[in-house]
Amino acid sequence: MKFLEKDYINKTVLITGHTGFKGSWLSLWLKKLGAKVIGISKEIVHTKGLYTTLSRQNIFSKEYFLDVIDRNKIEDTLIKINPDYIFHLAAQSIVSKSYDEPSLTFYTNAIGTMNILDSIKSIEKKINLIMITSDKCYENVETFYGYKEIDQLGGKDPYSASKACAEIISNCYARSIYNKIDNISIATARAGNVIGGGDWSKDRLIPDAVNAWQKQTILKIRNPKSTRPWQHVLEPLRGYLLLGAFINNNEITKEKLSSISFNFGPRTDDVIEVQEVIKLFSKFFDNSRYEFSQIIENKEASLLNLSFDKSSSILGWYPKLTAQKALKYAAEWYLAQFNGEDILDLSIQQINEYSEL
Ligand SMILES: NC(=O)c1ccc[n+]([C@@H]2O[C@H](COP(=O)([O-])OP(=O)(O)OC[C@H]3O[C@@H](n4cnc5c(N)ncnc54)[C@H](O)[C@@H]3O)[C@@H](O)[C@H]2O)c1
Repeated sequence: MKFLEKDYINKTVLITGHTGFKGSWLSLWLKKLGAKVIGISKEIVHTKGLYTTLSRQNIFSKEYFLDVIDRNKIEDTLIKINPDYIFHLAAQSIVSKSYDEPSLTFYTNAIGTMNILDSIKSIEKKINLIMITSDKCYENVETFYGYKEIDQLGGKDPYSASKACAEIISNCYARSIYNKIDNISIATARAGNVIGGGDWSKDRLIPDAVNAWQKQTILKIRNPKSTRPWQHVLEPLRGYLLLGAFINNNEITKEKLSSISFNFGPRTDDVIEVQEVIKLFSKFFDNSRYEFSQIIENKEASLLNLSFDKSSSILGWYPKLTAQKALKYAAEWYLAQFNGEDILDLSIQQINEYSEL
């Protein structure tokens, strides 16, 4: 990881969604790389998440609690921060919630993305934007084929469609609005289902499992045969950091690549069924009971896989952890939290160990 330090040390890095699951891990990692980390989020989404510990430990140089939909406040704040990098993660990130709140999901994920992109136009220094979307931005035709960055965008549900919109907006700003502006570099990052300590979102498999087992209840599993690209949170985050460093050093938006998007997915062997994931994860917990419930409505596509050939050849990124090892890291974190151990120490230890692999 030493080589990443030169791109981030003493740099002002804005993370939107810094209170969230991925945003908090990214904040800690960037702090370790010597960056001045600044956060923008609407709220604290996981009170038992890593963020709560980080906020007590002076990890953030400054934090703003703002809504990305509020264009004027976002622009004023971005100008004040004057960042070298923006990792835009703030989003309504839950598929099931997007059915309940489709309009809010589109405002947050699509208009929010546009607001970030549009608000930097008066900043004159070199600025690198890494826009985090999702593997769900692809038009999913449910085959074993791993989607490539040039494949068709789509999305049946509001979350997936809003992430496809965020991709289109980011591509548009990169290739037209800012294509003649040398100081602005933009890339988008698409990753799969992420697991790891500190995710307490409802309707995500691992947090649902930990919640159920903590309360000594039976976990009900909705779609046991669905396969997903499971990854530990540190895997896509390494991809985002490599991508940030890459666009800092290369003019990728200026006609050198066919697209500004990069996939960060697991190896095909680790695209496994929900039932297999839960079988492996349950081994780490006592009283880990689960049962498969009848599928009434399939709100999420059941088969999704990503090709990471482009990230591999251009960024040198490849997955380092097997699904088993990713599940072990996640279980260790939740168990340490149950037992009242220092989760900051454990999180740093996991980043260090992962970086050395
Ligand atoms: N976790 C995953 O499995 C996964 C997979 C693919 C893509 N992603 C994407 O990665 C990013 C981070 O995901 P996560 O799991 O950490 O999400 P999360 O739900 O844990 O955190 C979301 C963050 O966004 C902030 N936010 C939400 N609405 C906002 C608004 N209107 N204005 C400002 N901030 C707002 C929240 O305060 C929080 O900090 C999201 O863009 C998500 O879509 C996540």
